[in-house]
Amino acid sequence: MQEIARGITPASQGKEHWQELQSMVREIAEKIETFEEIEEMRVLTLGKKSEIAEAMKRLGQVPVDHRKAIAQVLNYIKEDTSKIIEERAGLLKKAALNARLEQEKIDVTLSPRPAAQGTVHPISQTMEEMIAIFSDMGFAVAEGPEIEDDFHNFTALNFPPEHPARQMHDTFYLPDVPGKTGDEAKRLLRTHTSTVQVHVMKNQKPSIRVIIPGRTFRSDYDMTHTPMFHQMEGLLIDKATHMGHLKGCLIEFCKRFFEVETLGTRFRPSFFPFTEPSAEMDIGCSRAGGELKIGEGEDWLEILGCGMVHPNVLKNCGIDPEEYQGFAFGMGVERVAMLKYGIPDLRTFFESDLRWLKHYGFGPMDQPNPALS
Ligand code: DAH
Repeated sequence: MQEIARGITPASQGKEHWQELQSMVREIAEKIETFEEIEEMRVLTLGKKSEIAEAMKRLGQVPVDHRKAIAQVLNYIKEDTSKIIEERAGLLKKAALNARLEQEKIDVTLSPRPAAQGTVHPISQTMEEMIAIFSDMGFAVAEGPEIEDDFHNFTALNFPPEHPARQMHDTFYLPDVPGKTGDEAKRLLRTHTSTVQVHVMKNQKPSIRVIIPGRTFRSDYDMTHTPMFHQMEGLLIDKATHMGHLKGCLIEFCKRFFEVETLGTRFRPSFFPFTEPSAEMDIGCSRAGGELKIGEGEDWLEILGCGMVHPNVLKNCGIDPEEYQGFAFGMGVERVAMLKYGIPDLRTFFESDLRWLKHYGFGPMDQPNPALS
């Protein structure tokens, strides 16, 4: 820059002035430490009110023979100043990046934080425990659809049309199947897993021995009800099956599930459209001092519904009741989980609160850090 400036002197300023200005620019630029200062300098040296801009404006007053040469010098100074500023800005950027890298450097000698490991949800765990016990007794797991028709949820299970039990289930109905009318058009979210009994009996020849874990739906919400909940259904069909088999199977299950060998049990007569006779099973408990203790005391707690499969149900599913008999049972998974683990409010199962899960021993456990052991 200086070489060019040396030979040409703008009319308004001496060449020393511009040389001086440029070395000042360099000197100042070298001391700049922040991006704000860089910007300030850019405005002062190259902005509209800068000395260079002013000199450019005055070019018109310069005699024509000098004008071109002076314009060249001014442009050169402009470019050079801009270069100095850009260089400094580049340096500052690099320094800032280095500082960040230095700060964010990963210390590989630091041992990793313990990883939280997920665990099985209490409902899934309870279902697995139940399945394990029934598997030992020779039951296989069967599944069926959650969206059902009126036939599988009610009619095939011997719920007469307009029977009040249909209303008792607080059913979630879905829009009718297009092009169909009456019961055929009705689609619903299954209100119990008993529907799968029908699918199994229609598709499988006896003997049948299945348990059916699954989601069920009813329009209900309080401490002991949620609109979605889980049931475990059981179905056994064979020749000469009787109530003694039903009782033996369920007593054995309850003793193992609640881990009380001396657990008291009793069966009370009840009513379900799909079983005859029907019963409800209670287990022995104590409620002394407001605390529920299973397997102690003189009190009773209802645990499930069961019975001998109604001949009409067998017929509806293509099984001859003269040849085969069977028993069925159904229980709420949340209910037995609450009893086993002492959980008072069913809704909390579905709130995904890790503190709650941890409190009942289900939450993710911090794994011990292998690097530290
Ligand atoms: N489906 C019944 C309910 O949701 C439970 C039940 C009772 C199932 C008796 C059965 C049974 O298989 O035999 O309330």
